[in-house]
Amino acid sequence: MKLQKPEIMPYTDHTDPDTIQKFNEVAEGYDQHFANRFDRAEENVLFDRYGHLLQRADVLDIGCGTGLVKRLSDRLLFRPRKYTGVDASSEMIIAASKKHKLGDLSIRTPSKSPYGSSGFAIDDMVEFMWAQPPASYDVVTSFYFPMNYCDQAPREVYEAVAHVLRPGGHFINVMATSRYAVRQSHILGAANLRRYFEPNDYYLNDIRGYFNTIAIVGFNYFIEKYRRWLNLCPQVVIEAMFRFDQRMGEKSGAKPYFYGIHLQKPPLDYEKTPLDM
Ligand SMILES: C[S@@+](CC[C@H](N)C(=O)[O-])C[C@H]1O[C@@H](n2cnc3c(N)ncnc32)[C@H](O)[C@@H]1O
Repeated sequence: MKLQKPEIMPYTDHTDPDTIQKFNEVAEGYDQHFANRFDRAEENVLFDRYGHLLQRADVLDIGCGTGLVKRLSDRLLFRPRKYTGVDASSEMIIAASKKHKLGDLSIRTPSKSPYGSSGFAIDDMVEFMWAQPPASYDVVTSFYFPMNYCDQAPREVYEAVAHVLRPGGHFINVMATSRYAVRQSHILGAANLRRYFEPNDYYLNDIRGYFNTIAIVGFNYFIEKYRRWLNLCPQVVIEAMFRFDQRMGEKSGAKPYFYGIHLQKPPLDYEKTPLDM
C-alpha cells in the first residue's frame, strides 16, 4: 500500500543554480578546508560502522568531490574490488583523478562490463546511475550532502540508487539537517543547500518501497561549540567525544547537524517482519 505524503514540506528549495560552478571554484582548495581534526570526524565514526562493507565490493561514490571517501577507505586498508566516483563538478573530478591517479570514466559505458576498472566520472549522479547496467554495485556511498545539493527530489535519487545496487546492497548516505545552516564552517554558503533531511514521515516515505532502513544515526548534536578546544586534542579523543555526543544527543531529542543514513536494498526473497523499521 502506498503511504500518503503528509502535508509538511521541509524542502527549502532555494538552490543557487550556480552551485556546481561554485564547487568548481573551491575544488582546488577543497581538501585543505578539512586540514583540521574536527570537520570530518563523523566520517571516521561512520567508517567504524560501515567501512567493512567496502571490502572487496563494487563501490559507487555519488557526489564524490575530490574522492575523500576513497582516501579514507585507502587509509583504513579497505580494498573495494572496484571504486567509481561520480560528480557533476568537473574541477572536483580533475582534482580527484590527479590525487588518486585513476582513469577518467566520463564517457558512460553501460555496454561495457560492470567489472571494469576503477575511476572517476564527470556527470550528474542520477543520469550516471541510469546509464549503468542494473544491479552493478554492492555499495553506494554519498558523503557530506550531495543529496542536499542536487536538483532531483530525494525519491528520484533513491530510485536510481536502487537501480544500480544489487539485491542486498547498501546505500550509505550523509545528509544535513536544517540545523546545519547555522554551522560556521561552510565551504559554500548554506544557502546553496536545496533541502534538508529530517527523519520524519515526509522523507521516510521517499525511502520506502526502495530500501529497508537499517540505521539513521545523528552526528554533531552539541559538540560543534567546542570545536576550537577539541581541535587541540588528538584524533582519538575527538572521535570518542563524537561517539559520546551522539549517545547524549539521541537521548536528549536534540537535532543533529547531520545524519548518517544506512539503507539496504532488500535481498532477494526478503520477507518483511514487524522488526523492520
Ligand atoms: C560537499 S561536497 C561532498 C564531496 C565528497 N562526497 C566529500 O565527502 O567530500 C558535495 C558534492 O556533491 C556534488 N553534487 C551536487 N549535486 C550533484 C549532482 N546532481 N550530481 C553529481 N554531483 C553532485 C558537488 O559537485 C560536490 O562535489
